[in-house]
Amino acid sequence: MHAAGWEGRVALLLLPLLPLLLLAGSGMSAPSPPSPSRAPAPPRFNVSLDVAPELRWQPVLQHYDPNFLRAAMAHVIREKVPKWVHALVDVLEYFLPQPFTDEIRGICKALDLSLSDCLLVNLAYESTAFCTSIVAQDSKGHIYHGRNLDYPFGNILRKLTMDVQFLKNGQIAFTGTTFVGYVGLWTGQNPYKFTVSGNERDKGWWWENAVAALLQRHSPVSWLIRATLNESENFEAAVFKLAKTPIIADVYYIVGGTFPQEGLVITRNRGGPADIWPLDPLNGQWFRVETNYDHWKPVPKGDDRRTPAIKALNSTGQANLSLETLFQVLSVTPVYNNFTIYTTVMSAAIPDNYMTKIRNFG
Ligand SMILES: *[C@@H]1O[C@H](CO)[C@@H](O)[C@H](O)[C@H]1NC(C)=O
Ligand SMILES: *[C@@H]1O[C@H](CO)[C@@H](O)[C@H](O)[C@H]1NC(C)=O
Ligand SMILES: *[C@@H]1O[C@H](CO)[C@@H](O)[C@H](O)[C@H]1NC(C)=O
Ligand SMILES: *[C@@H]1O[C@H](CO)[C@@H](O)[C@H](O)[C@H]1NC(C)=O
Ligand SMILES: *[C@@H]1O[C@H](CO)[C@@H](O)[C@H](O)[C@H]1NC(C)=O
Repeated sequence: MHAAGWEGRVALLLLPLLPLLLLAGSGMSAPSPPSPSRAPAPPRFNVSLDVAPELRWQPVLQHYDPNFLRAAMAHVIREKVPKWVHALVDVLEYFLPQPFTDEIRGICKALDLSLSDCLLVNLAYESTAFCTSIVAQDSKGHIYHGRNLDYPFGNILRKLTMDVQFLKNGQIAFTGTTFVGYVGLWTGQNPYKFTVSGNERDKGWWWENAVAALLQRHSPVSWLIRATLNESENFEAAVFKLAKTPIIADVYYIVGGTFPQEGLVITRNRGGPADIWPLDPLNGQWFRVETNYDHWKPVPKGDDRRTPAIKALNSTGQANLSLETLFQVLSVTPVYNNFTIYTTVMSAAIPDNYMTKIRNFG
């Protein structure tokens, strides 16, 4: 397989194809949020990394109706994946990294789906996410990290959301939040080390650029989060890996650690970092809010979730920061909106308090 040849053909395909998916994110408004205590938690499963990749998701799948999972995947593919990508996916298979491809292979065997459909759905979820992530430090130097994941197809995805504890030798190596059938992570924690979340940074032409980058063996952005949680020994190593590893799309990576000042936002281009924006608590900058826009630019008027989040953090006050008050900040309209699927709050230093709630439920 010659990547360069395929890239050339992809480039030829670029222009006339696909009107980009409508990102359903702008101009959002929402009903007042339900109280956090009433929002349900998703199921939490163990996935053992000591089990072969093709088999490790079986214990999760058995909790779900395979017909529902097949219908859900078919719906997402139909709505999100341009037709020309279908024609390429059998080739892409050979460019994708392990263990992800074998995990996907195992999931689709169990569901009696074709590998290409399962790959497509994993790539489709990569492409649209309007999100808010916050990393912050309280007056005592504790680091907290929270995120809202906003996405279309809420009716399906709320039922597929789960917290997963990835085990090595029976111990929790890392925890993440994802959707059944999706092997990447947009949110996760390595206990006593660091936490990570990802927010989309869309520049248009998502599929064209992503396919071209896959053919150069760049990693899907959520797979890099999982690989970092799996491999990185500490906050610094995680930041380095998240900043430097080539990926298939621009993205914001938000990272929290366990020591004072360990918190930052990495603005990523496909090839490397565009900007690193650390907490600066000694100068009063005790939080960083990232939505889906570069922090050094103003947000578009039609989608300002940044200012309301900053206002809510200001009125909470650094001394009152906790996982609970961070959850409240993430419940303020329009930070919280009709597309919010889940909210996670976490702090690597107190890993047992990792908490996800399903939003807009019922
Ligand atoms: C959000 O949901 C509320 C109530 O369900 C609805 O009235 C409103 O139009 C929705 N907003 C958007 C932008 O869809
Ligand atoms: C998941 O793994 C943890 C750590 O080994 C264990 O304490 C827990 O009981 C397991 N949960 C289930 C449902 O098996
Ligand atoms: C994580 O590490 C284990 C070995 O400890 C490996 O088998 C697994 O596939 C790794 N990768 C990911 C992304 O989980
Ligand atoms: C938040 O507080 C900071 C520091 O007092 C202030 O500079 C900033 O304007 C406030 N932002 C908002 C949106 O209230
Ligand atoms: C913290 O919250 C308490 C009430 O819960 C309030 O009285 C206090 O003013 C808050 N502190 C700050 C610094 O905002």
